[in-house]
Order: sequence, then C-alpha cells, then structure tokens
Amino acid sequence: MNDWQKTGWRSKPRVQMPDYPDDVRLKAVEEQLAKYPPLVFAGEARTLKRQLAAVSRGEAFLLQGGDCAESFSEFSADNIRDTFKVLLQMAIVLTYGAKVPVVKVGRMAGQFAKPRSAPTESVGGVDLPSYRGDIINELEFTEAARTPAPEKMLQAYTQAAATLNLLRAFSTGGFADVHHVHSWTLGFTDGDEAQKYRDIANRIQDTLDFMAAAGLTSDNARELDTVDFFTSHEALLLEYEEALCRIDSTTGLPLAGSGHMIWIGDRTRQPDGAHVEFARGVQNPIGLKCGPSMTAEDLKSLIARLNPENEQGRLTLIGRFGADNVGAHLPRLIKAVKEEGAEVVWSCDSMHGNTIKSSTGYKTRPFDAVLREVREFFQIHASEGTIPGGVHFEMTGQDVTECTGGVRAVSELDLSDRYHTACDPRLNASQALELAFLVAEELSAHRSSADSAAVV
Ligand code: PEP
Ligand code: CO
Repeated sequence: MNDWQKTGWRSKPRVQMPDYPDDVRLKAVEEQLAKYPPLVFAGEARTLKRQLAAVSRGEAFLLQGGDCAESFSEFSADNIRDTFKVLLQMAIVLTYGAKVPVVKVGRMAGQFAKPRSAPTESVGGVDLPSYRGDIINELEFTEAARTPAPEKMLQAYTQAAATLNLLRAFSTGGFADVHHVHSWTLGFTDGDEAQKYRDIANRIQDTLDFMAAAGLTSDNARELDTVDFFTSHEALLLEYEEALCRIDSTTGLPLAGSGHMIWIGDRTRQPDGAHVEFARGVQNPIGLKCGPSMTAEDLKSLIARLNPENEQGRLTLIGRFGADNVGAHLPRLIKAVKEEGAEVVWSCDSMHGNTIKSSTGYKTRPFDAVLREVREFFQIHASEGTIPGGVHFEMTGQDVTECTGGVRAVSELDLSDRYHTACDPRLNASQALELAFLVAEELSAHRSSADSAAVV
C-alpha cells in the first residue's frame, strides 16, 4: 500500500480525540514512544489473522472480552489474572459445548482511550472536558485532572507492556494448561453456572486421565498445556497508535505495534475520517463496530478501504444494535456484505446497544437484554445462511455489581455495592460464565443444523 503513511490520518477530519494544550510536551512524548519497542510482533498478528480466517469459514469461534476501559488505579496482577481466568473458563465452556476451537482475544493491554457522548461535562454550572480514559486525562472533576496530559501515554505503554508480559507468562508458563481446568474457578462464583462448569471440568479431567492411562500424554501436545491469547483495543488515540506503528522487517508492511487486533469504534468509523485512514494501512486484523446508524453504503465503502484485497481474517464486523434491534439492522448489513462478496467475520457485541440508566442513577445493562441480543444474532445468521463468528463482551474477573440480572441476581439497588468500572458496566465473572453457557448452546445448535443442512 504505497499511498499510505502512518501520519496520513493527521490531514483527515478527526473526532473523539483530545486537544492537547501543549504541543511541545506532546511531541516529546511521541518521540519517546516511537523509540520504545513495539508491544506485539507482526508474526503474532498474522497468526491471529489466520485464526480469524478460520472463524470466517466457520471452523473456529471468536471470544473477545475484557474491561470497557483499563485504568491505572485498578492495575494489578490479580485483576489481570482473574479476567484471564474467566476468559479461559468461557473458552472451555464454548469448546466443550460446541466442539469448536475458540480464538481468545482480550480487551486488554491497551484498552485505555474512550469515545464520549459529549466533549464536555457540566457539574454545578462548571464546564470541563469529559473524561476520556486514563491514557488521556483523569476522572476527578477538576480542571487539572481533566486537562489532557500527553505523558499519560507513557504510563499506559508501561502498563500495557507489564500486562502483556503477565499474559504471555500465563498463556505459556503452565497456568493455562488444560490440566488446571479446575483451578480457573474464582472463589465467589458458586451459583448454578459454577456447578455446570465444575461438571465440565470433571469430564475434561476424566478424559485427560484416560489419555494419560492410555499413554497419550501432553508431552508433545502443545495445544493442551499452552494457549494462544491475543490482545486488542479501540485504536482511538492516534498519536499513541502512530508512535507505536512499526515496519515489519519480514514483509516490509506497517504494523500497529500497540496490540494484536485493533478496532474502530462506532463513533469514529467515518469512511473519510482519521481513524479509518490509520487502520487501513496496518496489517493487523481490524475490528469495525457497526451500530444502528451504519448504512449499507458506509459499510461498502469501509470494506473497500479496510480490506481492499478481500483477505480472510482481516476484517471483523462487530454488530452492536441493542436487543430487539438486531432484526432491523443485521440482515441489511449481511445483504451489503453478500453484494460485495466480502470476506468478514461476524461478531456480536451485546453490551453497547443495551446501556440504560437505572432508577438509582447508575449506568447499567440488564443481563436479559445482553442474552437476548446474542440469541437474535444467532437466529439471524441461521436464517441468512451466514456464519455467527464470535462474541464481544465487557467483563471482568472481579465480583462487581454493574449489570443487573443473572442467576445470582443483581438488582438495581445492588448496583451501588461494587460498582467499580472506569466507564461502562461490565459483566461480573458469574454473569460472564452464564453467558458462555448460553452462547455454547446457541452455537452448538447452529452448528448441528448447519451440518444437517449440508448433508441434505
Ligand atoms: C467500546 O467498545 O467500549 C465502545 C465504546 O464501543 P462502541 O464504539 O461500539 O460504542
Ligand atoms: Co464500553
């Protein structure tokens, strides 16, 4: 792509990005970051792309999840470990239930910058810039805290590097060994879904014991004792993304060195805008959030820009329409994709279209609506004959009370107990596991009806 430069986005219209008041400080940070090593390597991004290509053919399933926004204050080994554990548990439930390999992608190690519905926030007659994530400014409502500070990019980089280091160690150092399937359980998950998980874990343990007794050990079966785990985030803060962009020495192609997969948010997907311009030139797998306002024309021009060579695994379309709205939007977007003959992964973010304000004033998401949107996603792909490729959730391994409902029901009144999110409400570990069981059921039903349709 010789018409692309990593700085090209600078001459395009930009939205949702901070106005840094001090150019000199900004430039110094950009220069510093540009000298740091990339966080991920091109070969890893290509491996993920190959795995997503398998997803697009229906041979694997994508599980993407993590915090709405990572924060500096909640940064700890325990938090990273617990989110990783829940993702492993969800993946095992899906693999076991639907008999399909699961591609695991965390919203981790870079998910810091947030789009906001308004550029400023007004409290008691005082107007200040909105909080845009810890990589940009601070939540506290003071002028100093809300002024964008470029040095925060360096702290975010350091946190992302340490997070990735731990994730790599967990993935390959024994923690993710399937023989430890029981130890991924979190202490406070004790509902029905936890019992169902223990049943699966017991059955897996039996199978492993049988294999060992039969002499089939995991000595040379890397699949059993390590896991491929990838990172992703919304590539919103383009100064950070540009500074971490690198040329891959093996292919000569640019790579976003900030994470394996990056996505474009529903608010920043203007076909001629800065975010699309940056993403089109890097070789990473790209996600594109598709909300109700996405037109077929927009989608077609975004596909042409983001995946001109129609490469499998390059583009994941992440629908986020809201429960009861999927039928009004997904079929028309599927039609546009069919008309273009485009290779895509279809994924479902059943969080962002289901945010409401509770009677107690908290931003929340009813678990029922989250489940319903997932069901509608599967129904529509079944009737369109297309492949439901994956799911995208905001979740945490912590026992928070941010989304209402679930088997261990969180009520509107409970929300104030443990509401810790730096941005949107997340599923807690037990809600996430419950959801994984539902997705496994839907996916398994979908796969068996697709198989019998293929036999006929
Ligand atoms: C998000 O994923 O946190 C987000 C802001 O999503 P969307 O762009 O779909 O609103
Ligand atoms: Co969010």
